[in-house]
Amino acid sequence: MKRLGILLSGRGSNFEAIADSVAAGRLDAEIAIVISNRREARGLEIARARGFPAVCIPSKGLPREDYDRQLIAELKSRDVDLICLAGFMRLLTAEFCREFPMRILNIHPSLLPAFPGLDAQKQALEHGVKISGCTAHFVDEHLDAGPIVLQAAAAVLAGDTAETLSARILKEEHRIYSEAIRIVLAGGWRIEGRRVVVD
Ligand code: GAR
Repeated sequence: MKRLGILLSGRGSNFEAIADSVAAGRLDAEIAIVISNRREARGLEIARARGFPAVCIPSKGLPREDYDRQLIAELKSRDVDLICLAGFMRLLTAEFCREFPMRILNIHPSLLPAFPGLDAQKQALEHGVKISGCTAHFVDEHLDAGPIVLQAAAAVLAGDTAETLSARILKEEHRIYSEAIRIVLAGGWRIEGRRVVVD
């Protein structure tokens, strides 16, 4: 069974959706560890309530390199096959990315390469796009930048606020993230340039 390491910083709804997919048998994997960089993250509470191994590795005040070395050690000790960032609001070092090549996924609430970084839904709204969405992608050391596994669109409606648009996009995030994880774990894909080609 493939082992997932989940990294989160907050609410943890994408983690919950992954856990639901595992529980429902849609995803043939097990959640080996949930790690939060913030003690107060709701996602950490949910992980513990659902009986998953969960730890907090606080990031506050630590140099990025030192922090990422702690993360690497924890993930290696849990023998994870794939790392899933689920609202993990930190940029990873090149060293971290080199440790797990093509074994880190992220979900981002925009159609990348549009609107990387923080508050992607607010950025989309303010830019005036009519369609936004979400992207499940491999992670490299650049922000929201690695090869794209799946995307889904969500309409931007008249009268949307950042909250209403975020909720519409989040539904799609919950759907495509598990599917992207399933594709990556299944193998039979390769990277051509920036493209993820699934056989
Ligand atoms: C999600 O919308 C996720 O796409 C976003 O943070 C939210 C976390 O929610 N991630 C990023 O913006 C990463 N750049 P969740 O904790 O409920 O999954």
